[in-house]
Amino acid sequence: MKVLITGAKGMLGTDLCRELAADHQVTGIDIQDLDIIAGEAPGKIAGYEPELVLHCAAMTNVDGCEKDPDAAYAVNGLGTKNVALACHQLDIPMLYISTDFVFDGKKGEPYCEWDQPNPLGHYGRSKLDGEKSVRELLKKFYIVRTSWLYGKHGRNFISTILAKAQEAGTIKVVNDQVGSPTYARDLCRAIARLISSNKYGTYHLSNSGVCSWFDFAKKTVELSGIKAEVLPISSSDYPTPTKRPAYSVLRNFCWERTFGETLRPWEEGLNDYLKETEYIK
Ligand SMILES: NC(=O)c1ccc[n+]([C@@H]2O[C@H](COP(=O)([O-])OP(=O)(O)OC[C@H]3O[C@@H](n4cnc5c(N)ncnc54)[C@H](OP(=O)(O)O)[C@@H]3O)[C@@H](O)[C@H]2O)c1
Repeated sequence: MKVLITGAKGMLGTDLCRELAADHQVTGIDIQDLDIIAGEAPGKIAGYEPELVLHCAAMTNVDGCEKDPDAAYAVNGLGTKNVALACHQLDIPMLYISTDFVFDGKKGEPYCEWDQPNPLGHYGRSKLDGEKSVRELLKKFYIVRTSWLYGKHGRNFISTILAKAQEAGTIKVVNDQVGSPTYARDLCRAIARLISSNKYGTYHLSNSGVCSWFDFAKKTVELSGIKAEVLPISSSDYPTPTKRPAYSVLRNFCWERTFGETLRPWEEGLNDYLKETEYIK
């Protein structure tokens, strides 16, 4: 299949290009090739004549979105609409990557695909706006919500934690935000299966298991063998411009029922990531 991937130089896009190259004819584009917010974007995307578009391009800096909401809605809302318009014009399916930040984190138990979104900030709201365009414009779409994503080709929580642990010896990490870390390569494998299925719809896809950022950091430091102390703090001790959902665990209900499979535990993904990045042998 001729697959076009937006955000191809980003963390997920880079891994997706590699994962899909074995079975598909992949073209990756990023902002240097095309700004998805430009008026001519739908026509230019259609000009690649893809049979499927995987839309990973986004403004992903959560606090940046809070400081500049116009930019967030332009990229995540309007930009996604432009990609959907191209898919509409070509009558091809689109896969849109969305986020656990569409939820407010107040449910207290894992969110299912049919739970009512209620984003707390502009990042989540603009990503939800993108979902809306995809649903309005297309009959054939996949919306994949994932959470706490990390991969080799981008700055992420793990690389930040390991750098700080090495440098400072003691790190403080919030213990009152809970979610499911997701290894980009595990997500890519699931996406590869999904796009070959034609089983369109909304899916939650995250590694299984639940932890706080503190648990995640502690496990990371432990597996890496770095001698550092990890201390729990509360979100009030670490104020950020954006309010984050306290509990944003995604129940992968539709994925598990449709494909009879659960993504592996987050600890196993983390271990493989640390090997991939040569933090451990
Ligand atoms: N990271 C997470 O924890 C997480 C969690 C849940 C969902 N997601 C979603 O997963 C997807 C991939 O995330 P990621 O972490 O791989 O993101 P990323 O590394 O930030 O990659 C996004 C890519 O999109 C590009 N881009 C930004 N604005 C653009 C524009 N106007 N036109 C064309 N390209 C543009 C970026 O270019 P520049 O770098 O030059 O701006 C970057 O290469 C996103 O949709 C994100 O919302 C991420």
